[in-house]
Amino acid sequence: MSDEKIWINGEIIPMADARIGVEDRGFQFADGVYEVIRIYNGKTFTLAEHLARLARSAEAIRIGLPISTEALASEIRKLIAASAVREGMIYLQLTRGVAERNHLIPADAKPTLLFYARPLPPQPIPGHGEGVKLLALPDERWKRCWIKSIALLPNVLAKSQAIAEGYDEAVFVEHGVVTECAASNIFAVVGGKVVTHPVGSKVLPGITRAVLFECANALGITVDERPLREEEALRASELFITSTTREVSWVARWNDRYIGQGRCGPVTLALHRALQDRVRREISG
Ligand code: PDD
Repeated sequence: MSDEKIWINGEIIPMADARIGVEDRGFQFADGVYEVIRIYNGKTFTLAEHLARLARSAEAIRIGLPISTEALASEIRKLIAASAVREGMIYLQLTRGVAERNHLIPADAKPTLLFYARPLPPQPIPGHGEGVKLLALPDERWKRCWIKSIALLPNVLAKSQAIAEGYDEAVFVEHGVVTECAASNIFAVVGGKVVTHPVGSKVLPGITRAVLFECANALGITVDERPLREEEALRASELFITSTTREVSWVARWNDRYIGQGRCGPVTLALHRALQDRVRREISG
């Protein structure tokens, strides 16, 4: 895509012309945070929620946002128009910027902020297609997973191992408790209720997760935020994962075991449809 555009430090330029300093702390220390925001029909979905999470992540690692979230939202809309992406996503990254290499946080570095739009294939029809195959792996991440940090090496290694072994996604298990997946949140349907680990040290506050809670509430489905044990997940009537790019995706397998009936279950389907309705409402408004 030679005509791809990027917004970098206030300017929209061709992606091929964008330059990052060698001593950018994002590059040298993974000293930065990011967001992935969905674009449907040329419009952003839950943009305010993503920018609020960005502000929380940035504050947590003491990077000041170089522009207000309101100004950022309007710059993102400009970039989408310049990129002409209708169905896709925004990848946004904020780093502490360039400074002479030193672990100590520099007092005066100017943050690097950039984002670009990428097309994504159309959303799958609810319940159609193969379910996700999960490979369970130990959770070797740090204890501040609520920060959307660009330091993703444990996630990268876990996901790559899952794919290499014929799975689609890695699911993290810590002391027998299911936390989240390499790039998505996970939910089990147990006794008709939706169970998912609370957000915090080991779980990112997923934006899709939050929207899903609203959908469940509207449908009268109870959500139980509590630690989910691996044995419970294996015996669950349904398992599904959520993320900005995967929306609500049903899980068919956990390692070599099939989950539930081996097809997309009714709770997952209802929540998937509710999310799609919410998307339609938000992008038509
Ligand atoms: N990943 N947990 C982790 C570890 C994630 O990386 C993600 C998202 C989620 C779901 O969050 P949300 O619903 O806000 O997308 C949960 C993005 C899509 C990524 O890294 O590409």
